Amino acid sequence: MTDCSFSRLIVSPGKPLRGEYRLPGDKSLSHRVALFAALAEGQSRISNFPLSGVSKAMLRALTDLGVEWELKGDELVVLGKGFSGLKPPQHLLDCGNSATTLRLLAGALSAANLPAVLDGSEGLRRRPMDRILTPLQQMGVAITGTENCAPLQISTALLPLKALDYKLPVASAQVKSCLILAGLSADGVMVLREPGPSRDHTERLLQAMGVQIQSWVEQSESGGAAQYNTQWMPLNGRPLLPLIFSIPGDISSAAFLVVAALVVPGSEITLRNIGLNPTRTGLLDALWAMGADIQVLNFSTEPGEPRGDLLVRSSQLHGTQVSGPLVVRMIDEFPAFAVAAAFAQGETSVSQAEELRFKESDRISALCEELNRLGIQSREAPDGFTVKGGNLPRGGEVDSHGDHRLAMALGLVGLAGSHPVTVLGAQVIGESFPEFVDIFQSFGADLTLEP
Ligand code: S3P
Repeated sequence: MTDCSFSRLIVSPGKPLRGEYRLPGDKSLSHRVALFAALAEGQSRISNFPLSGVSKAMLRALTDLGVEWELKGDELVVLGKGFSGLKPPQHLLDCGNSATTLRLLAGALSAANLPAVLDGSEGLRRRPMDRILTPLQQMGVAITGTENCAPLQISTALLPLKALDYKLPVASAQVKSCLILAGLSADGVMVLREPGPSRDHTERLLQAMGVQIQSWVEQSESGGAAQYNTQWMPLNGRPLLPLIFSIPGDISSAAFLVVAALVVPGSEITLRNIGLNPTRTGLLDALWAMGADIQVLNFSTEPGEPRGDLLVRSSQLHGTQVSGPLVVRMIDEFPAFAVAAAFAQGETSVSQAEELRFKESDRISALCEELNRLGIQSREAPDGFTVKGGNLPRGGEVDSHGDHRLAMALGLVGLAGSHPVTVLGAQVIGESFPEFVDIFQSFGADLTLEP
């Protein structure tokens, strides 16, 4: 595997992309299966477990909580001993760059009533945590933040926690998952109401592990936006069942390969066994609306998470508009999507997406700044952005802003543009997709990582 500790990604225009690949497992699922397996009672076996910076953060935290796990190739074996089997950590739990690790652990430790300090990188310390602190405090969890950010301090509280009927101001699977976990130790049924369809991996996995949980969409009678509701029962002393699970390939990593194959003329690639959970496939819907030639082959729903192969051929795209629930279903894919928009004919606009300002970077301003640097006309709006496509980008030097998805997306511009693109700060790619350069090279692309 290529060492991603180098810091410059240099990408040059070249041949069409050709070939097929089976991608490493989905990151969102990897965090969840590792943690939920630790909370279960018995041995769980998880195949296609991806090893990147963010999944290592969860495994490291589990070790610090006394959980026994072993990684044999890409199979993760976890010996779960239930919530009460977790040991108080001897030092703070370092969640690295992973907000998912931190927010999910906060929920699990609240349910386990285990004192701990949760912290992470400088970047993670900038992410908003009031969105979990407020509801957890209302449930009776003794949790505080540092100006509503990490480090978070959890102290012992009285169990059971108080069950809530809670309305989330923004759709967020991390917050939802945190509260679902905490609610497993609540004194009754919890209900959560979200303004959008955030990813539902937690619900699917916990249902398979014996939790009574259901979701439904409530249409507004006044014709306003729908509400996405989840309701679940506490465990009341029952154990979580262990998991036997194969993680499908990461659609958020596939996004970069899909967009590259669409915009580099003459390309044809096949990506095998990609996760196609409908709460994650918004990018495909947006690209189909732009005229993309993407076919889903060998679709299956086994076991629990839909999956299939993607056959992608280069296509002449046209501009589109993205807003509403679609934004939530492609929340991580806007950097890659913006590159598709840059090579499409006409204008593409994204609105109702202010949440992009709270990701690994402010993805609205950082994206527009760097795309403009490459000669791609893009305009920032408070809740989104506009890209004017169809003019060949000029190439040059751009910055990752410490954001793995921005680094990879900006690299794609070099593949289909007229001149090379150099992305500074590209070591951050290793946080989520350490195989990025190797896979692109195997498809014939001209990419290198340099110190
Ligand atoms: C994730 C949820 C999303 C997403 C993140 C992973 C998850 O964050 O952006 O990369 O695994 O639950 P939010 O919950 O903050 O929207």
